[in-house]
Amino acid sequence: MSTGRSKGGIVIKYFLNRIALLVFCLSLLTSLQAQLNIYSHRHYDSDKILYKKFTDKTGIKINVVKGSADQLIQRLISEGDDSPADLLLTVDAGRLHRAKAAGLLQPIRSRTLYRNIPGSLRDPDNQWFALTVRARVIVYAKDRVKPSDLSTYEDLASSKWKGRIAVRSSSNIYNQSLMASLIEANGKRKALAWAKAVRKNMARAPRGSDRDQARAVAAGIADVAIMNTYYIGKLASSSDPKDHKVVEKVAVFFPNQKGRGAHINVSGAGVTKSSKNKENAIKFIEFLSSSEAQDVFGSVNYEYPVKINDNKSDLLSSWGPFKSDELNLSKLGERNSDAVKLFDKAGWE
Ligand SMILES: [Fe+2]
Repeated sequence: MSTGRSKGGIVIKYFLNRIALLVFCLSLLTSLQAQLNIYSHRHYDSDKILYKKFTDKTGIKINVVKGSADQLIQRLISEGDDSPADLLLTVDAGRLHRAKAAGLLQPIRSRTLYRNIPGSLRDPDNQWFALTVRARVIVYAKDRVKPSDLSTYEDLASSKWKGRIAVRSSSNIYNQSLMASLIEANGKRKALAWAKAVRKNMARAPRGSDRDQARAVAAGIADVAIMNTYYIGKLASSSDPKDHKVVEKVAVFFPNQKGRGAHINVSGAGVTKSSKNKENAIKFIEFLSSSEAQDVFGSVNYEYPVKINDNKSDLLSSWGPFKSDELNLSKLGERNSDAVKLFDKAGWE
């Protein structure tokens, strides 16, 4: 009996050892699994879907650190070469430019990216690439404004809009980039005069988010708002039925269609200089530029694809095709500090 018991004990021990060895091997394999570390300012469901799709396709595990672009840029600076980050994802060209200017990114050679992303939507030195486009447009009250009343951003300075405009604070990068595009198009003197006149035409002091500007128009506080297109999609798919009423009352107008086109900004990515997984980072940006990923950005987050008129989202298509300003978006970054100064001079809070 005692021999049988000890034999059984040996067998159990043998299997326990085998299991321990298996667990060890699995954990070693996991630690060796290809990785990609992303610092992201983006906070959208579309991205979670795309991370999963990419991992399923490639086996590359994605780790994400979220924060504001400024926080993440600061973190990259202080971490230096030891930074674990491979990729910086932001929601505007201005901050991508800031990261490049701080020496945090590196140039990327990729035929796929050159083919998929139009020249005006990437850094001239290929240090960052746009992945989605958002147009900053005029949203108007359908019952009080006719589309024929609207024309250009410049026209919002005219006295006919006195007390009728809603727009958020000038501390917001989307407004700074719009202002940068106006400086590029018209020069500093005219851009300042525009900011002063628009400030005077506001229905209320700047406040709130882009969504709040559409809400102000629907509530009759203002007749027109300057805001990004995808927030209309977000209001339409909001869990709050009040937001659906907002969408029913407003419409989208693309300004400057007879001239340079509507101001666009981008969400984009750059590979960090410190990247230890550069090949994976490039693979991921290439994946995000593929039509499969571009469709997810449109259908889930209502952003335009980088090839704007290829969009397949019903909502975006309902606004029709539009002409976009083809100014190279690196200019938005280069003109950012001028834009901030002029807003201050204009008294635009
Ligand atoms: Fe946004």
